[in-house]
Formats: sequence, C-alpha cells, structure tokens
Amino acid sequence: MQVFDSIDALRTARRQLPGTVAFVPTMGYLHEGHLSLMRAARKSYDHLIVSIFVNPTQFGPNEDLDRYPRDPEGDQHLCQQEGCELLFMPTTLMMYPQGFATNIIVSRLTENLCGAARPGHFDGVATVVTKLFNITQPDAAFFGEKDFQQLAVIRRLVADLNLDINIVGCPIMREPDGLAMSSRNRFLTADDRKSALRLHKALDQATELYSAAQNTASRTFGELLDHTRSFLLADPALRLDYIECVHPDTLIAYAPDQPITPQTPAQLALAVFVGSTRLIDNQRLDNSAS
Ligand code: PAJ
Repeated sequence: MQVFDSIDALRTARRQLPGTVAFVPTMGYLHEGHLSLMRAARKSYDHLIVSIFVNPTQFGPNEDLDRYPRDPEGDQHLCQQEGCELLFMPTTLMMYPQGFATNIIVSRLTENLCGAARPGHFDGVATVVTKLFNITQPDAAFFGEKDFQQLAVIRRLVADLNLDINIVGCPIMREPDGLAMSSRNRFLTADDRKSALRLHKALDQATELYSAAQNTASRTFGELLDHTRSFLLADPALRLDYIECVHPDTLIAYAPDQPITPQTPAQLALAVFVGSTRLIDNQRLDNSAS
C-alpha cells in the first residue's frame, strides 16, 4: 500500500492503476463500519483507494472538530489489511489552500434532519467529496447507510453534476447489542453506552409498530413519532436533537396527521445527544426496501 499526502503524487499513482477503481472516503478512526465499505468495494472492483481526512468545513463552530478522534497509524494498518492500494491522507492546507472560495451546495435534501441541526454541514461534505472524487477519479464510491442523508445528498450531487461514478450504499454495521458503530462511540461513558442502546431499540419498536399499522391503517405518522419519542425520553440521559419519518429518496417528511398505509416507503431517522455526544441512527420501516 502506498500512502500519499500530495495530490499530484496520488493522481500519478491512480493513473497507473489498470482496471476498475473503487473509492472509500473516510474521516479515519476506522471501525468495522468503514472496513465493511472497503470489503464491499474490493469484491466488485479491481483496486481500492481510501481517503482519511477530517474535513474541517463540515464541522460547525461549536462542534467536535478539535476532539474528533484520530489514529493515523492504526488506520494505515487496517487499510493495508483490507487490501487498500492507495491511501490518501492530505493536510487541511492541501485541500483548502489560501484563497479557496468554491462551495458545492445541494439544496432541498439538506434542509431537514441533520441539515437543520447542522447548518452548512452538507455544503462541507458535498464540497470535500466532489474534490476527493476529482482527485481520485474512481469508477465507484462506497458510502454507509448509517449516514443516509449524506448518501442521498451524494447520489443527488453525482446525478446533477453528471459525474460518472457508481455510488454504492452499504448497510449499517452494528455492535452485537445493536448500537450503530461510530467513531464517536468512544466518547460514551459506561452509563452513556447503556442509554445509547435505546436508539436501536426505538427503531426496532417503530418498525414493529409500522408493520402493524400498515395492516390496519389505524395509525398516523404523528402517533408513531410520539410513541418513539416517549420511549427515547423515558431515559433522562437522552436529549433529542430530531426524530423524523421521511420518504427514503426525497427525504420529505410525512405530515403528522398522515395515516400509515400499506406500501408507503418510510425511513425513520433520529439524532440524540447522550451526554455531550451526538449519535445518529436510522432504519427503513417498510419492508419493501430493495
Ligand atoms: P466518516 O464518518 O468517517 O464515515 C465514512 C463512511 O463510513 C461513510 O460513508 C459512513 O456512512 C460510513 N460508516 C460510518 N459508520 C458506519 C456504520 N456503522 N456502518 C456502515 N457504514 C458506516 O462520513 C464521513 O466520514 C464524511 O462525511 C466523509 C464522507 C468522509 C466526507 O468528509
């Protein structure tokens, strides 16, 4: 595996790769969620490029950029093990040299959910991912459904800008007890960790409620959300950032008074503070997902 911090050197090495190339962008502190993307990528493509870059432009002024966990050596070791051939680890100055002035803004899809809670976040993501795509020139790029709004934004961006890149979404990897894997889980105390389990339990309960409601058409989206909200807030250690039921592709929220009917595609997404750590999770509620 070759490791690069220079954009030019990475480009030269990429041009020399024969066959198809898959790309997995990350912010590092790698866990099984990231590794699952690399494995999926290696299965269908000849070569794998990974990037590790904690992108400052996607963090708000009061967010955790400074304390975002980092482990460059451990990460390099894992990338090597997963068959990554080119690892790109640029510096902030390389990605955002003095005078940098361009932003990619994906509208509509970025207005609710994490977009409402983190203004500017998806502009930072869309801009850095576009830059990384241009630098690595992949045939395909792999993203996790854990960040399902991010995945929808990237799909939109690629379609709208006619980028010739196959965007592949991969399932959420979870700890054995159901907690979605995240670099931020390391901030959880033992008590936080117990409370955090409620996120996944809440999604499972909502999925059951949803399928029962679909059969009887007896409940509204508002009732489903109220039930899930109450279950989460029964633990005083949890503070809700948002909880929404949206169409999986358009991300448009269902109105609270809308009845749940058969074949309505719906994704339940939530963000919850456990102590000072913000965790996100989501689940498809109907079973018609492809
Ligand atoms: P990061 O949070 O490091 O995540 C990198 C990729 O790993 C994303 O596609 C994310 O959805 C996926 N991922 C994280 N946890 C996962 C899990 N438990 N199961 C499956 N996939 C998981 O997302 C980013 O970085 C950044 O926004 C980035 C796209 C790199 C742009 O800076």
